Amino acid sequence: MQEFEGHENVIILDHPLIQHKITRLRDKTTGTAEFRQLVNEIAMLMGYEALRDLELRDIDVETPIEKTVSPVLAGRKQAIVPILRAGLGMTDGILNLLPAAKVGHIGLYRDEETHKPHSYYCKLPAPINERTIIVTDPMLATGGSAIDAIRFIKERGGVKIKFMCIIAAPEGVKALTEAHPDVQIYIGHLDRQLNKDAYICPGLGDAGDRIFGTK
Ligand code: PRP
Ligand code: URA
Repeated sequence: MQEFEGHENVIILDHPLIQHKITRLRDKTTGTAEFRQLVNEIAMLMGYEALRDLELRDIDVETPIEKTVSPVLAGRKQAIVPILRAGLGMTDGILNLLPAAKVGHIGLYRDEETHKPHSYYCKLPAPINERTIIVTDPMLATGGSAIDAIRFIKERGGVKIKFMCIIAAPEGVKALTEAHPDVQIYIGHLDRQLNKDAYICPGLGDAGDRIFGTK
């Protein structure tokens, strides 16, 4: 795992399976069905790492050989919160790991001219203050959408928040760590920079359009 400018809350996942799948995502000839499947697979692989601090508790269990004490997840208080639209593409991958997790939704879209996020929806599972919250969005570009989404969650009581993205621009990571230094950020790959339209370079294009086959 790599670091970002010494921030201990930023974790860049350099696992070869994740890197291989991201390369397939970048390829402009990768079609919608494969793209959607890859996003979910990457989310699951990232989730495996991002959830390694989930609490455990011991229970009694009887194996075919003898009685023993063995750990299970301590609580069922997790929430996955995709940022619409593209974050939805990562939800099933994480639900594969945490089938009992509740799912919230935050609707945001970026203005094409100003690149600032506009919000249109927010619904979170209660009690949000008791949950480990995994916010998903494949792209962290300027950081505006992630910053606002996490602010909405905090305003509603959310405390333990992780943000998971597949590709990030350095500009977005910097903005997000400054706005929310307490949030753990998991990144599949840190790309070079934003272009003048605030798209990530080399990136993968518009994640929402590629997941849902629009445009
Ligand atoms: C994309 C992406 C992020 C946002 C990232 O969504 O899925 O939510 O842009 O950019 P930022 O870091 O500069 O805020 P978009 O606004 O295109 O909406 P969509 O998912 O509905 O297509
Ligand atoms: N949103 C995307 O979908 N892609 C980018 O490169 C930047 C923002």
